[in-house]
Amino acid sequence: MNTDTDFASVRRLFPITSAKNCIIYLNSASTGPLCNPVRAALNRYNDRMETVDPKIDGDAFAALEHIRQLGAKLIGARREEVGFGFHTGFGLNVAALGLPLKRGDEVLLSDVEFPSNVYPWVILRERGIHVTFVKSTDGFFDIENFRKAINRKTRVLSLSHVQFFNGYKNDIRTIGRICREHGMYFVVDGIQGCGIEPINVHSCHIDIYSAGAQKWLLSPLGTGLFYVRKDLQERMNRPFASWLGVDWKMNFSDLFHYDLPFFDSARQFELGTYPYGHVFAMEAALELITSLGVRNIQRHNYELLDRLIDFLKSTSYFRITSSLKPGHRSSILAFTCPDAKTVHAALGAAGIATSFREGAIRVSVHLFNNRVDINKLAGILARYSK
Ligand SMILES: Cc1ncc(COP(=O)(O)O)c(C=O)c1O
Repeated sequence: MNTDTDFASVRRLFPITSAKNCIIYLNSASTGPLCNPVRAALNRYNDRMETVDPKIDGDAFAALEHIRQLGAKLIGARREEVGFGFHTGFGLNVAALGLPLKRGDEVLLSDVEFPSNVYPWVILRERGIHVTFVKSTDGFFDIENFRKAINRKTRVLSLSHVQFFNGYKNDIRTIGRICREHGMYFVVDGIQGCGIEPINVHSCHIDIYSAGAQKWLLSPLGTGLFYVRKDLQERMNRPFASWLGVDWKMNFSDLFHYDLPFFDSARQFELGTYPYGHVFAMEAALELITSLGVRNIQRHNYELLDRLIDFLKSTSYFRITSSLKPGHRSSILAFTCPDAKTVHAALGAAGIATSFREGAIRVSVHLFNNRVDINKLAGILARYSK
């Protein structure tokens, strides 16, 4: 496959890359930009809703099923293990409220997690469940500290696949194996890796996985997917119950049935009524990502970041705070320098969108970025390192 050609044409699907917008977008770890296929799906939905097209329910439910299939393909799950959620926090709440935990049990978290993966757990303290933070080293999850933290009360580890502020990709396979050896549940916040880092939830012994689709999956805010391992589903407490968690066989004219069984799949944890416009848009975005292939996108992104890494290493002014080890790098690269905040603001003023996180400038590259973007970034940074 000629990936150069493919990615050049993919770039044209993204209006943010058009010269008239005067922006170099290196911030997909924050929010993914709108691309033409996603906009077209939203437009079609809006057109149909002008007359409340009676066929829209059937089409939206088909799109939801397609999302579950494509989501399953992205993470190596089975279709019946994947559901549509509204963001990362949705699936993490399914985990925190649904896992069969009791008073005295302990949950482990990293001390450098994004808050979405903290608040659903710390409220469990009100139910007598202990929540302990595993100390990181240099901002990286430390497997030895994790091992030391495990005791006979420890039941859960909930961890990001890729850490939000420095892009550190955790060794999910090894960590999953440790969880399995200790009879612990393994919950993964997948948002910073989903669609750009290959993952297989089964071989990594992941019990529950959740990823908002608003970043790397290029979907609207308020969309996401979650996975619950099949054999765990029947042991879960029901965190909440929606009327669309049971099967109406698309017959919504006979609704006085209050004893229908819940779906025998992750769909039982979904919450309807669904946001159809966002559903169609997410389907279009997942079609784009899966047609290109996660490994191809990963290779493309890493090649671009290699250029930035070479530049940053060529000057002593900048210090890379991300890990560059092959197993731990990702599509996020963070670096700092004296007065990094000023440099970040200067990038913004020059039309280069990055994030400032935990004292460092965070660059994130995705399938629509190219070498010119990186060269322009390096050009601005070079002014400071002289
Ligand atoms: C690791 C991580 N988890 C979760 C989120 C967002 O959570 P949610 O999708 O629940 O808004 C972010 C970024 O916004 C993140 O970087």
